[in-house]
Amino acid sequence: MEGKGLQMDLRAFMDELQAETPADFVRIRKPVHPRFELTAVVAKLEQQRRRPLLYFERVEGTSFPVVCNLTASRTRLARAMRTTPAGLVQRYLQVLHEGVEPHRVDTGPVKQVILRDEQVNLLDLPQIVHHQEDAGPYVTAGIAIARDPDTGLNNASFNRMMIKGRNKGSLHLTTGKHLWEFYRRAESRNQPLEVALVIGVHPAVELGAVHTGSIQEDELKIMGSLLGKPLEVVRCETLDLWVPAHAEIVLEGVLLPHVREEEGPFGEFTGYALGTRPREIFQVQAIIHRRDAVFRDIAVGHADHLLLSSIPMEANLFRAVQAMIPSVTAVRIPAPFTAYISIQKRAVGQGVNAILAALGAELYLKWVVVVDHDIDVFDDRQVRWALATRVQPDRDVVILPNARGSDLDPSTLEDGVTSKIGIDATAHPSLEQFTPRHRVPPDLLDKIKLEDYL
Ligand SMILES: Cc1cc2nc3c(=O)[nH]c(=O)nc-3n(C[C@H](O)[C@H](O)[C@H](O)COP(=O)(O)O)c2cc1C
Repeated sequence: MEGKGLQMDLRAFMDELQAETPADFVRIRKPVHPRFELTAVVAKLEQQRRRPLLYFERVEGTSFPVVCNLTASRTRLARAMRTTPAGLVQRYLQVLHEGVEPHRVDTGPVKQVILRDEQVNLLDLPQIVHHQEDAGPYVTAGIAIARDPDTGLNNASFNRMMIKGRNKGSLHLTTGKHLWEFYRRAESRNQPLEVALVIGVHPAVELGAVHTGSIQEDELKIMGSLLGKPLEVVRCETLDLWVPAHAEIVLEGVLLPHVREEEGPFGEFTGYALGTRPREIFQVQAIIHRRDAVFRDIAVGHADHLLLSSIPMEANLFRAVQAMIPSVTAVRIPAPFTAYISIQKRAVGQGVNAILAALGAELYLKWVVVVDHDIDVFDDRQVRWALATRVQPDRDVVILPNARGSDLDPSTLEDGVTSKIGIDATAHPSLEQFTPRHRVPPDLLDKIKLEDYL
């Protein structure tokens, strides 16, 4: 691999990983089939609770090597953010407001190969089919960079793409998210929306793409904040958009106005294969990539996907709840659509306020459980214990009907329309006034040696 450079990019991160924690980087030389085999290796390792970065050198039908599991461990994400696993959310929040301006450069490694018009062929990319229910090959680690037609601010989000032909894909845009809103603004003027789909960047840049903030926040600046240095960007060949100069691959195209075609079924992050839906069409007019580009793939619904989504969401929720309750202590996303939040409750009612703040801050949230600060939200047993012993269902459960949530939630009757539930599992009226826990005297617990008894 060439081009390590000073810029922090995917290959610099992989080089660092190989040098410092070689067991965390597994190179697979055996040729693999793009249909199910890559996901099978990820899934089989996951059954054994192993989640190393996987570098597949030879994937049948393509010249691009494929990297999976880049973000499948909190330790690797912490390395990307120059912190510890426990410090991830605080680090994320600490750098977020810095807003580091991207640095515009004339050209970069991503432009080593430029393919336009007739040269464009999405079928040259790895045609990865992840699960047996999928309608076809999908690009699952594409970061869509687009510009607000009204304000000109940049947004970045992961949007999966079904490959539908040499220059045609179908993107999934969640209703209400920023890319959907940009597309709606462009479509109302009968205009296409320019989109650059960026594949293969430093994991800190990936974390920036999952940031859920205000539509007024420029996500290229957020990527720089998370990287700890300005993101070097180059202008696309055919679009008025700037993309990471050290990305591996960029697909340049437009979302066509007033066109929808069937997409799916697709095995989603929820663990379910969702049926066919009419979706927006992405017409690709150029592909730029590094000479020896690496293709980044995310096995949908596995740790790579779930952890990458969770960290920015945990940070966003922490920030939102903290605005309402300064004494919030931790946030965890343990499952799709679910948050556990711990607070140091200082006044009656703050449990419900935390629920309201969280549900207001994250579209996908359906379940919120709020516990006291003595409960470790990273330990499911402790959360279940609080639910069992501190909750009176008729008093502590809040249900809000007819809200918008994820259109990928298979339990809804109408796509994306869901009720939301919050459970205030804090002790009432306060932890101090609640029935005390029984305890073995802590000094005795420290002092005794089991060898003396067993
Ligand atoms: C691997 C991965 C795939 C994702 N795929 C999609 C997708 O297909 N459509 C979508 O709307 N959001 C998808 N998301 C979630 C968005 O990237 C995320 O909600 C992002 O914060 C949206 O950006 P926004 O808040 O700026 O709109 C995905 C996230 C990850 C990590």
